[in-house]
Amino acid sequence: PVDRRADDLLHRMTLEEKVGQMVQIRVGKLRGDCQWTAGPLREDCMKTVLADDKVGSILSGGGDFPVPDNTPQAWAEMTNAVQRYALEHSRLKIPVLYGADGVHGHNNLITATLFPQQIGVGATWDPALATQLGESTSKAMRATGVLWDFAPVSDVARDTRWGRYYETFSEDPLLAGTMAAADVRGLQTNRDKKTADLTATAKHFAGYSQPANGHDRVPAQLPVRYLQDQFLPSFQAQFDAGVGTVMADSGAVNGVPVHASKFMLTTELRQRMGFTGVVVSDWQDVRALVDSYHVAADYPTAIAMAVNAGVDMAMEPSEASEFTQDLIQDVHKGLVSQQRIDEAVRRILTLKFRLGLFEKPYVDASAANGIVNGADRDLARRAATESAVLLKNDHNVLPLAKSVGRLVITGDAADSPSEQFGGWTVNWQGLTSDSGPTPPVVTVLQGVREAVGADHVVAASDQASAVAATKSADAALVVLGEKPGAEGLNDSESPALTADQQALVSALKATGKPVIVVLETGRPLVLGAAANADALLEGWLPGSEGGHAIADVLFGAANPSGRLPVSWPKTVGDEPMSYDQLPGTNGGTSSNYDPQFPFGHGLSYTSFTTSAPSVPSQVDAGGRVTVRVTVRNTGSVAGTDVVPVYVHQPVSPVLVPERRLVGFARVDLAPGEQRTVDLTFAVSQLAVTTGDVDASGRREVERGGYEVVVGDARAPFTVR
Ligand code: IFM
Repeated sequence: PVDRRADDLLHRMTLEEKVGQMVQIRVGKLRGDCQWTAGPLREDCMKTVLADDKVGSILSGGGDFPVPDNTPQAWAEMTNAVQRYALEHSRLKIPVLYGADGVHGHNNLITATLFPQQIGVGATWDPALATQLGESTSKAMRATGVLWDFAPVSDVARDTRWGRYYETFSEDPLLAGTMAAADVRGLQTNRDKKTADLTATAKHFAGYSQPANGHDRVPAQLPVRYLQDQFLPSFQAQFDAGVGTVMADSGAVNGVPVHASKFMLTTELRQRMGFTGVVVSDWQDVRALVDSYHVAADYPTAIAMAVNAGVDMAMEPSEASEFTQDLIQDVHKGLVSQQRIDEAVRRILTLKFRLGLFEKPYVDASAANGIVNGADRDLARRAATESAVLLKNDHNVLPLAKSVGRLVITGDAADSPSEQFGGWTVNWQGLTSDSGPTPPVVTVLQGVREAVGADHVVAASDQASAVAATKSADAALVVLGEKPGAEGLNDSESPALTADQQALVSALKATGKPVIVVLETGRPLVLGAAANADALLEGWLPGSEGGHAIADVLFGAANPSGRLPVSWPKTVGDEPMSYDQLPGTNGGTSSNYDPQFPFGHGLSYTSFTTSAPSVPSQVDAGGRVTVRVTVRNTGSVAGTDVVPVYVHQPVSPVLVPERRLVGFARVDLAPGEQRTVDLTFAVSQLAVTTGDVDASGRREVERGGYEVVVGDARAPFTVR
């Protein structure tokens, strides 16, 4: 019936009303002189955008605060006011869909509990947790009337120089796709039905995460084989999970801006991958076809290119009226068909009907503070704890005894909310010195003080005092981070710990006392001298409860179970790097993979053994394979092991990675306990794009011999 309702409405709409639905405008246009300035929404500005231009969607881009006090209630009142104006001033009473980036909780608010950034969630290898985080984020966003979340990022991590690396789940297509799909399921869940539903966004379709030189939006070169086999499967997983919208990649792939690529936005996205929802552009990216990419001589041509390529809605196309009038002219000139307009608008209306927006356009603003403030702190703590990856633990220096006499804590991130949260925190670029109050946070310093008692902790702010204090302490804890950022401003030509950070670790190490380095970074940074620390714990960007979570791991209240979702390069020259890069001839298949820590690495306070895998000897190309392994906790404390299952293809007609992840399991085990787990994967996951250098684009599973690889053990099977 939603399709029928959408069709019925569509047939009653004028062309003007239709093209209005294809525009999404930033909330800043609704106030001031109808441009961005702080202050309440203004009637005249709402009239221009909502009544005159008939805009179908409003967004708050990162840092686009709609209200000065930034409380959930104020947000809800604001989105209700926008909605009321739209409904009362539109002929057909079509509700507005309000969008924002909620990438680690409802991170637009200063009162919301914030979760680890995606890279940390990827390190948990725990899809059920990703679903819970998505559900919590959805609840907070829906309470404020924001029913479109521009998350999750499904791009695969490839290059630590790229400043949005922390926004990805993993370098591996299967892990990234599994976590993204799980997140989508949570985001699109609405248990109490007190509001309309929320739609998630698969972004940025596709190829965004490998700009040629690591700088955001530098055109990517991605052979179709590589695009299809490594960059698209994580999106497919979200389409299969029913994600409602896709955001197009701002970048260009193989010389064509994605916003102008019919191959990407129609042939691949819709015809091959079967996506049926709404495609939204990224910020001002239709305009970029003229101003940045110069593939269109003027704006009307750019609009026609983007819409014909497959963009259904333009995010912040500068002036809405300019976009809508130009698009109407395009239709009159025959540059865009009426049919294509109807297709786009039908998708947008179908989404609004499906979300229940027509039935529940408003939210209960008086309930918003109660739903959001202080919510899900335990979940945030568990997520941050599960995400922590113990990289190194010489002589079992960790866990530290809670009865530690004197512990020195130092380093730039020890007590730094901005480094603990990363980008997309209140502001697009994260917390800055002048961004005002911070969301709720427990820093590492606070968490450690709470765990062992403030009397046992010496906080040292500079190297000399840290060294002096460590000489008479039991151990030194060095918390190192990087400044937050996003979209170009966080790119790094040298993603490494700074010389000062490394020197601090070396100086403390020279005292002879145990040195434990905790990292709060959104990417693996080249460690240099910090690799000599006795213990290394990657806490990622752990969010509000990071300090508690890291203290839980340091003092053994929690046993680390995070595993690297990405490879850790030894030097910047290793980039771009992933474990599944294709083999070369210089010394054998693995010669070009020599990381500091490999994909999947992560230590525990206990030890595990995993049996050799058992698999059926023959499977059909269209079938599924069940792999059985037995995992045992051979140590003396409870722990969680993550068991990755890979497939190796000994002979293949085109290059394939030495091993490909096909499944994984998290197994909780008491000391001495063992469990047998069955992992099932579809043989279709082994498909590769066939053909010579001019790959035809067909993905097929090659018949013949394969091996399942678990740890060092292998089990052969044949695909018939
Ligand atoms: O969702 C984001 C996108 O990831 C980058 N450009 C701006 C959008 C809206 O804030």
